[in-house]
Order: sequence, then C-alpha cells, then structure tokens
Amino acid sequence: MSKSSPNPQRDGFTTALGVIAATLGSAVGLGNIWKFPSLTGTNGGASFLFIYIISTLLVGLPVMISELMMGRAARADAVTTLQKLAPRKQPWWLAAALGVLAAFLIMAFYTEVAGWVFAYIFKSLGGGLLSTDPQVTSEAFTALITDPWQSLIWQWVVLAVVGAIILLGVSKGIEGATKRLMPILFVILLVLCVRSLTLPGAGEGLAFLFKPDLTKLSAAAVLTAMGLAFFKLSVGMGTMITYGSYFREDQNVPKTAAQVMLADLTVSILAGIAIFPAVFSFGFEPTAGPSLLFITIPAVFAAMPLGNVFMVLFFLLAAIAATGAMLSLMEVPVAFLNERTGLSRKAATLITVGLLALIGSTAALSSSTLANFKPFGLNMCNCSGW
Ligand code: ALA
Repeated sequence: MSKSSPNPQRDGFTTALGVIAATLGSAVGLGNIWKFPSLTGTNGGASFLFIYIISTLLVGLPVMISELMMGRAARADAVTTLQKLAPRKQPWWLAAALGVLAAFLIMAFYTEVAGWVFAYIFKSLGGGLLSTDPQVTSEAFTALITDPWQSLIWQWVVLAVVGAIILLGVSKGIEGATKRLMPILFVILLVLCVRSLTLPGAGEGLAFLFKPDLTKLSAAAVLTAMGLAFFKLSVGMGTMITYGSYFREDQNVPKTAAQVMLADLTVSILAGIAIFPAVFSFGFEPTAGPSLLFITIPAVFAAMPLGNVFMVLFFLLAAIAATGAMLSLMEVPVAFLNERTGLSRKAATLITVGLLALIGSTAALSSSTLANFKPFGLNMCNCSGW
C-alpha cells in the first residue's frame, strides 16, 4: 500500500499534539462517562471491566490502527478511501458508505443525549436538580425528556456548537477545539476522582470496579464489552478513516493509536473511580443502567457538601467529552459530501446539520410527541427503560 502524497490544498492536523488531541477527542465521549459506567454497573463491575480491556486490546486497537492507516494512505473521505485502496475495484466502498451512514445515525441520537447533558449543566447551576431522593431526580429527568420543545432546543444547541466548530475547518476548528478541551477534561476528571475517593466508604465502590468475580460474567456481557470497545474507539463508523486522512505524514500511526487507546481506557477507569465510590458511599445502587447518569448521579451529588459545584463540573466534563466525539462523527458525512459532491465545506456542514436536526428530531421527540408512534409496529419510546 503506497502512501499518496498529501494534497497541499487539503486541510489537516498541523501538530503531533493536535493529532493526539483530536483522535483522543473522538474516542473519549459519552461512551466513557455514560455508557461505560452504566454497563459496568449492570454487568457485574470489575469482571466487565476486565473483558472490556481485553476486547479493546485484541479487537478495538487493531481495527483502529487499520482504519487510521487506510485514511492516511488515501488522504480522502471514508468512501473514496476504500474505493482507492480496494484491489481490482472490488466494492469495498460499500462498507465505508455504511460507516458514513452509521456516523450520521449515531449523531441523530447522540445529539439528543448530549442535549440532556448540556441542559443538566444549566439545571445544576440553578440548583434545580439537587435532591437526594431518586424519585425527585427521576421526575426532573422525565420532565426534561417529555417536554418536546426543551428536547428539541437542547439538541439544536448541541448541533449549533458542533456545526460551528466544524465550519472552522479541520486544523482551526477540530484541532484547535480539542487541543483546548482535552486538558480541561482531565483536570475536571481528576478533581471528581479526588472528591469521590475521599468520601467515607469509598473502598466498596473501588472493590466493585477492580475486584473481578468472573462467575458473574455472561456471554451477553462479553458481547456487550466488545461492542463497547468498538464504540469507544470510534471504529466501524468512518471516523478513524476520515481522521487518519488528516494525520501528518511523519505521524507514527500504531504508536498514536496505542497512546489514544490507553488514554481513552484511563478516562473510562477514572470516570468509574469518580462515580462508583460516590454511589456506594451514599448507599445508592450501581445497577441503574442508562439512568445512572441522569437520575442516580444528581442524587449522589446532592448528598455531598458543595454538591451543586461538583454536579456542574460533572456535566461539564460529560459535555466536553461528548463534543470531541461529535466533532469526529459530524466530520464523516461533512468530508464525504464536501469531497464527493464538490459542495463547499460550508454547504456540506449546513446540509449535514439540517439533516441531523430533521432525523434527530425523531430521537428528541421519542419520549413526547412521538411516544405513541409505532412505525412497523416498533416502539419509538424508551418509556419504561428509565
Ligand atoms: N467514541 C465515542 C464515544 O465513546 C463515540 O462516545
């Protein structure tokens, strides 16, 4: 596979640090702060973490290195990359087309959850979420997701923020933003870990996270851990191919991928340390699943001194993580439209944001206006799931 020479007209990451920040920004996301703790909580704690680490090393990392290398070799959007590299014109581009579609569809629901996170920063600033009673925090969450306008507007806020950064371009926008955001993310995470670890009874939460009991593992949990490893490293969705195409020529791809994978695992584990000791310390259950973030966590923070300050920091952390990941997800269809159809980057971004607002509204309205809508007999509402 020969490396094509970089096109001087094509935007890309400019510094080695920028490459790491952007790629780590893509890997770190709601997967670390929302999915990893909720899945670890419902799948037996440490034993799930153990399988997740093995899946990341054996499956996630090799796929990530391959995708980055393909992108760097072809220096094009995901579909063109596979078209250029496929031997004998075999239709491998179809796999990349599915990746572009996957990135788009993930964004359609990701922006909804990110919208809740953005909303929670402001709601916790006002102290409105502070209650140690999970019944009260559950009602606050339900009030948010069943209000169609609030759900839509927060999703649009998220789309506007991510779209504005994407409009600035790869080096100025994505690289510039992630270089600033990633250090802030680590500082907030460390502050939250210290807070959680210094609570009375924190040891129980640490044991839950680090003392594996492999008898608790099910085949379904192993499959879930593998899926999480893919989602975490943003593979199979065109993002790593697209980001690889922006890598510098002198960037060592396997080394960068390994560094990003290790840093991403560290963020997940630190998120676990920030959450589980606090959850156990105040006598809450770690098994709440997806509602852990929006219902249990506010109740946990309400139980500690200066709880609203830590709650604001926590949701700020989740918002920063989500933003880095969404930049990479939105970049996939934008690069595709820009490079395949000849649309300007500005037009490609505006079309992507508009389509996401349209398709994403089905996710945003799934607990309100569309709750009883059953296309093909299938339920849109996760009404009993929270
Ligand atoms: N890797 C991103 C996340 O974990 C998609 O949220």
